[in-house]
Amino acid sequence: MSYLCIVKQKIIITGGMGYIGSHTAVELIESGFAVVIIDNLSNAREEVLDGIHSITGVRPVFEKLDLVEHEKTLAVFEKHKDAIGVIHFAALKAVGESVAKPGLYFKNNILSLVHVLECMERFQIPNLIFSSSCTVYGEPDKLPVTEETPTKKANSPYGATKQIGEEVIQAELHANSQLKAISLRYFNPVGAHNSAKIGELPLGVPNNLMPYITQTALGIREELSVFGADYNTKDGTAIRDYIHVVDLAKAHVSALDRLAHDTQEKNYEIYNIGTGKGYTVLEVIHAFERATGQSIQYKMVTRRAGDVEAVYANANLANEKLAWSAQESLETMCSSAYTWEKMYRGTEKSAT
Ligand code: UFG
Repeated sequence: MSYLCIVKQKIIITGGMGYIGSHTAVELIESGFAVVIIDNLSNAREEVLDGIHSITGVRPVFEKLDLVEHEKTLAVFEKHKDAIGVIHFAALKAVGESVAKPGLYFKNNILSLVHVLECMERFQIPNLIFSSSCTVYGEPDKLPVTEETPTKKANSPYGATKQIGEEVIQAELHANSQLKAISLRYFNPVGAHNSAKIGELPLGVPNNLMPYITQTALGIREELSVFGADYNTKDGTAIRDYIHVVDLAKAHVSALDRLAHDTQEKNYEIYNIGTGKGYTVLEVIHAFERATGQSIQYKMVTRRAGDVEAVYANANLANEKLAWSAQESLETMCSSAYTWEKMYRGTEKSAT
């Protein structure tokens, strides 16, 4: 009798309890990887593990760890030194807070990355995927933005940590010849897993558009403020490239495949991860109303400091090299975000 033992490849997901991290954990588990989540739970709840378990049937290994803590980080990575790669999501991400507490953002986001890179070198873990952001393009001169579009001075310390993070990785690639890395520049992730078992969990009053809309639809917020009606766009409101979080999560699986199979052309590659379509704030509100049948109370107010007028992706490079493209419509993004919010708030009525 012969026994076939299939050993799953291990991937470390830092920040894996967060919004994008948890959706990526699900996609990786469903693609056959063994997932280890590292998270300090500063902006996430441990019940996310139940959601991942309930969707996939697998409870990922969880290490509660703050990556700023050097010795503890080394110990956890040593334990998981058989990992073939790291997807580094762990970071603080509130733009406004980063302006008020720049030191906290630089310390947390940069030092944790430096520690991850040190561990990858020490334990010879070769593949890194870094969560970057379209914020590196600032207010672009030409749309859509490609990966060749020049980056601009960051609008916030948060944005600066993404730019510096990309630079830190490139510098490390010169020092660590085993390392290969891909930075994914995310556009605006929204929506939730179609099971509604995981989704976005903003603490307190949401900063971002979609959770503000879903909370307004449920009456948790009275009225949505639309920041700026005087932009040079078709209806005066700002344009973004909204991407379904599950599409975004799948881009990580494609990027990991490329690194793990050594099919990348350079030891460092950058990809825009967006749909290539820009929608105004009013278009998002109306898509939400169409998709859910819920009307949204809103008022136009002045621009929000630091916002750009318009940014959307040219994602051709990711389409071609990662064999990945965004599939979900804006309506699906809206309806999944709303279903998740209702489930989370416990107001979903059973369909009888
Ligand atoms: N908006 C409103 N009302 C709100 C919230 C947002 O009108 O209550 C508008 C914003 O002004 C903007 C659009 O909706 O025009 C999208 O705003 P989000 O806050 O949802 O997203 P941002 O584009 O500002 O930010 C996102 C990520 C950041 C990232 C940034 C880069 O959340 O992490 O993109 O541009 F840095």
